[in-house]
Amino acid sequence: MEAFLNKGIKEIIDQYPDVEKILDQYDIGCGPCSVGICQLKDIVDIHNLPEAQEQELMQKIAGIIYPGQDVKIRSAKKKTPAAGGGTKFSPPMQRLVDEHVLIKRWIALIPRVVDHLDLESDDGRQLILDGIDLIRSYADRYHHAKEEDILFEYFDQDSEILQVMYQDHTTGRDHVKAMVEALDRQDRQTLAEHLLAYRELLSGHIQKEDEILFPWMDRNLSTSQVGELFAKFNEVDKKRGFSPDKYLKFIEKLEKQFNPQEGKDG
Ligand SMILES: [Fe+2]
Ligand SMILES: [Fe+2]
Repeated sequence: MEAFLNKGIKEIIDQYPDVEKILDQYDIGCGPCSVGICQLKDIVDIHNLPEAQEQELMQKIAGIIYPGQDVKIRSAKKKTPAAGGGTKFSPPMQRLVDEHVLIKRWIALIPRVVDHLDLESDDGRQLILDGIDLIRSYADRYHHAKEEDILFEYFDQDSEILQVMYQDHTTGRDHVKAMVEALDRQDRQTLAEHLLAYRELLSGHIQKEDEILFPWMDRNLSTSQVGELFAKFNEVDKKRGFSPDKYLKFIEKLEKQFNPQEGKDG
């Protein structure tokens, strides 16, 4: 079983498709999740299941890989107990989770924006320019930069999970570039496609960070690293002198304009 712990989960699922069904029972969606290139041992660590559940999961997987054999499962040493219910984040991690809220409110509005796409009028074009500005200035320069330049530096840059996060950020930037070009050409179809693709990408990305990556990072940072992180976030925000107010107002206006019920979830 030890050998399988160091194998990529995709490879294991390819060889033993039933493993994916077992993981699904524990809400570990490795099939559709693009982080599915992790090794089996990372999955056990990253998802932080309660110990009894982890043992049960590993026994079920062993049952598929070694049917009819009695396989010894080593118990993973946990740094902290598994989170039961809502996750309690450290202050710097909570800040990143809070910053996601405005991005989530924007991407929740995107289908409405696409339905009402108006590239003929100045107001219609300005709406798209403002949305792109929110992505570039708030989501990317203000938020993703804190992740890439500060938080991720505390972890193994070559790890697969971080590579996937960097790749998501890069793909998001490519969508924005394509949006700007489509807007210049007044190409509605391409603009709509990239807006919706960005929404899809960021929804999954934020969910991975909030539910898997950040809780795992918090469990692996020491108390002094958490303090250092908090100070570095403050320092960088102060240096940039950036205020999210303008973007908050933009979102509030759009939510009122389109559908006050729909804006705040998703
Ligand atoms: Fe991110
Ligand atoms: Fe993020």
